[in-house]
Amino acid sequence: MVTESVGIGNIMDVEDVKVKSRAQTSVDGIMPKLRIQHVSKSFQSKHGLTYVLEDINLEIQPGEFVCIVGPSGCGKTTLLNIVAGLEKADKGEIWANGSKVNGAGTDRVVIFQEAALFPWLSVVKNVEFGLKLKGIGSRERREMALEYLKMVHLSKFQHAHVHELSGGMKQRVAIARALAMNPEMLLMDEPFSALDAQTRWILHYELQNIWMKTKKTIMFITHNIREAVCLADRIILLSTTPGRIKCEFFVELPRPRDDNDVNVAEYSTRIMKELKSEINKVVKCEMDTDSCVECDIKCTTEEPAKTDIGGGI
Ligand SMILES: Nc1ncnc2c1ncn2[C@@H]1O[C@H](COP(=O)(O)OP(=O)(O)OP(=O)(O)O)[C@@H](O)[C@H]1O
Ligand SMILES: [Mg+2]
Repeated sequence: MVTESVGIGNIMDVEDVKVKSRAQTSVDGIMPKLRIQHVSKSFQSKHGLTYVLEDINLEIQPGEFVCIVGPSGCGKTTLLNIVAGLEKADKGEIWANGSKVNGAGTDRVVIFQEAALFPWLSVVKNVEFGLKLKGIGSRERREMALEYLKMVHLSKFQHAHVHELSGGMKQRVAIARALAMNPEMLLMDEPFSALDAQTRWILHYELQNIWMKTKKTIMFITHNIREAVCLADRIILLSTTPGRIKCEFFVELPRPRDDNDVNVAEYSTRIMKELKSEINKVVKCEMDTDSCVECDIKCTTEEPAKTDIGGGI
């Protein structure tokens, strides 16, 4: 497997930067916050075995903001779930902050597409929830919760209930709640994909500011290339089934970045070209009735076996 690494600090040089194999990015002397080593994963279903991830090797450095992009079904969520300890890899290991991951942990907090808030609690109590579990006293946890609500500009809504919030506000509460736990790493699975473009734009700006303030290590899954360019230090492109690291892009634009900035648009176009070739493979495979030669998906035209219950058709 060849992994390409593309520096796009200078957009004009992109095509010239042909790159050495670099699935693992080590910075001398600094322990990576996350190390994904030779991770493979398959799922057994009634159609047979689906190979979802193959030999994923990736290191994320402390304070790095990494976006993972790739065609639908290539295994992005599966990879995030394995890192979160919610799913087990068939092969390989995950190391977080120097310790081997054997399950979920408060050092890795996940933010999902739909903010999983507690509807019976007020905004501030939602943010306090994890702090209470940690045994932090009521006064201190209220102070902490308010500090993080201020960071996401929701101080005025501290006593509101979840149903009174817009989708974007709910995601901001989820971010405040995650940050309040002071995790080593934030794992975000398409957290803004259900939001309208304007709200997403505001949240891109807020998340960048939060990241600049807190320097949290972030692994962020998205379909949206422009979102990835707007947010990431580095973008990892996964190929289609089974998901492998196809190439990586370093984004060297100053922050905060704006989705509508011309440089962000140019970077996005470059990356989109690579992604399109992967999407085309998926489409071709889905339309092809035989085994697809372009990817390793074993397409089947057979109906799944039905149990004979007598007097069948
Ligand atoms: N629990 C499961 N059992 C069986 N198959 C699964 C399971 N979870 C995921 N898969 C399969 O694994 C593949 C990858 O799924 P995954 O959700 O990781 O993709 P994704 O890249 O996140 O897709 P999307 O961009 O659409 O969210 C898909 O083919 C999916 O059907
Ligand atoms: Mg997904």
